[in-house]
Amino acid sequence: MMITGRSQIWRRRSGTTFWIRAGLVSFIVIFIWVQIGFVDFGGPIPPYSDINDSQAAILSMVPVVLHKFLAPKPKNGTNLSLNGSYSNLGYSKAAFNISDIKRNIAQYNLQQTVYNEDLFGPLQSDSIVIVIQIHDRITYLRHLIISLAQARDIREALLVFSHDYYDEEINSLVQSVDFCKVIQIFYPYSIQTHPNEFPGEDPGDCQRDIKKDKALQLKCNNALYPDLYGHYREAKFTQTKHHWWWKVNRVFNQLEVTRNHSGLVLFLEEDHYVAEDFIQILRLMEKTCKEACRQCNILSLGTYLKTYNYYGDSKKKEALHAKQQSNKKNAEVQPSWTFQVLPSLYQHSQKVEITPWISSKHNMGMAFNRTTWNEIVRCAPFFCKYDDYNWDWSLQHISQNCLKHKLHAMVARGPRVFHIGECGVHHKKNNCGSAAVISKVQQVLKSAKKHLFPDYLILTYATVLKKNKLRKGNGGWGDHRDHKLCMSMTIR
Ligand SMILES: *[C@@H]1O[C@H](CO)[C@@H](O)[C@H](O)[C@H]1NC(C)=O
Ligand SMILES: *[C@@H]1O[C@H](CO)[C@@H](O)[C@H](O)[C@H]1NC(C)=O
Ligand SMILES: *[C@@H]1O[C@H](CO)[C@@H](O)[C@H](O)[C@H]1NC(C)=O
Ligand SMILES: *[C@@H]1O[C@H](CO)[C@@H](O)[C@H](O)[C@H]1NC(C)=O
Ligand SMILES: *[C@@H]1O[C@H](CO)[C@@H](O)[C@H](O)[C@H]1NC(C)=O
Ligand SMILES: *[C@@H]1O[C@H](CO)[C@@H](O)[C@H](O)[C@H]1NC(C)=O
Ligand SMILES: *[C@@H]1O[C@H](CO)[C@@H](O)[C@H](O)[C@H]1NC(C)=O
Repeated sequence: MMITGRSQIWRRRSGTTFWIRAGLVSFIVIFIWVQIGFVDFGGPIPPYSDINDSQAAILSMVPVVLHKFLAPKPKNGTNLSLNGSYSNLGYSKAAFNISDIKRNIAQYNLQQTVYNEDLFGPLQSDSIVIVIQIHDRITYLRHLIISLAQARDIREALLVFSHDYYDEEINSLVQSVDFCKVIQIFYPYSIQTHPNEFPGEDPGDCQRDIKKDKALQLKCNNALYPDLYGHYREAKFTQTKHHWWWKVNRVFNQLEVTRNHSGLVLFLEEDHYVAEDFIQILRLMEKTCKEACRQCNILSLGTYLKTYNYYGDSKKKEALHAKQQSNKKNAEVQPSWTFQVLPSLYQHSQKVEITPWISSKHNMGMAFNRTTWNEIVRCAPFFCKYDDYNWDWSLQHISQNCLKHKLHAMVARGPRVFHIGECGVHHKKNNCGSAAVISKVQQVLKSAKKHLFPDYLILTYATVLKKNKLRKGNGGWGDHRDHKLCMSMTIR
């Protein structure tokens, strides 16, 4: 389905390699524990090969009252499988045409209905707002919702579901959430609603791999603006960053219900999974910051070894694929990620680390408040005009080149947010290992149960010997139309 050229892969990988190298040379941070944690991850959790990841096993770990979130609305004649039709083929796309979708989106965004406010009362200034960026992977979303439902104090939170793909089944799932307040927002410039025009793919746009002089001859739309690797825009790789910027602006500065909110805002994605003490941990971290780390301005509930991004993933997959072809020996390259998903939660359940914020390590389960956002948004051009299609690298760029006080993080060493989705948007296989990840996360959390809900946190400090400058972006963001769109979504 997705065709990714070699140089595209190289671009991403060369960027990553540069960063890793730069990181090794100048940034000696004690993150070695992460790897050690993986290696001696023992205890009562069986290794992956012994994990019972049957649907029955996964279901048996979900409280019966929450089974409803796993059950798709029955379609006449068919049962959608619990094990996951990750492709969006499972539900009816044809039901709405684009003008219908646009109209519905506009209506949702105008009405700003907050569901369940009658049950749980208005948002308090110290409540936690949880913003979830969603594309179309409903099976993961079901499990995220199940994990949120089991979190203590969730009833005080507001969940903001931010969509870039309009789908009735996802909408009805979101609207079935009954354990806290919920609001839905819709990114209005999606590829879905702009299939033949910018920000989607305009037929008059330059081909990705065309040379600039050829493009100028052809007078294609964006001939003047290849990225810094000489490639022209690919719509599908730009959406996540636009959506990210749009939703944060919208939540802090526009949405009626959150526009004056002064408390923490936590950012999750559709394929995350939370531990049941994550709200308590956030509160403890917030308090600990006030008492012991005045320079901390961002919290992170998860940590892992690489950048995550919907489309980045599929590129990495392609890269793996290429590697596999050139190296027949390792025919089964597939899930190197399985070992990175689950750092040893219980050895570290009480520990938090203070460290400069690093995009690739601390982009999961991030939280900050309006004070930090105001600083970030003042640097909008550094985000919007930086030639990198990853929102997290762009944020890092802001931090290093514009912020008066760089992003300084407090990071939970025993993660409270897990990443269960590695299949990527373009993966077509039904079961690409996700059942194994979900099952494993369930079991890790079950055995870590007695270590959750610590009364206090133990601080550790990353030893940072030298600052690091991120010089060159990963590209994919050279088109001036993207810069303009991004800037136009900035609300100051
Ligand atoms: C997996 O778990 C289910 C439900 O607990 C059980 O019925 C099934 O026998 C187990 N399968 C294996 C291979 O252990
Ligand atoms: C599904 O079946 C019910 C009756 O069993 C019918 O009322 C409904 O219109 C059907 N829906 C579709 C989309 O075919
Ligand atoms: C759908 O699921 C129900 C309940 O699990 C089952 O009884 C029914 O036979 C299934 N239908 C099909 C077509 O698989
Ligand atoms: C997943 O569901 C499909 C039906 O959609 C089924 O054919 C397949 O065997 C299931 N796989 C597992 C691992 O349960
Ligand atoms: C979209 O569908 C609606 C009915 O649902 C119809 O009135 C409208 O004309 C359609 N628009 C287009 C562009 O096809
Ligand atoms: C937010 O603050 C503005 C200005 O201070 C005020 O006019 C508005 O009513 C407040 N909105 C809410 C929902 O509290
Ligand atoms: C917001 O976070 C900053 C640290 O970034 C902190 O100093 C400030 O007190 C927080 N504001 C509120 C209202 O909690």
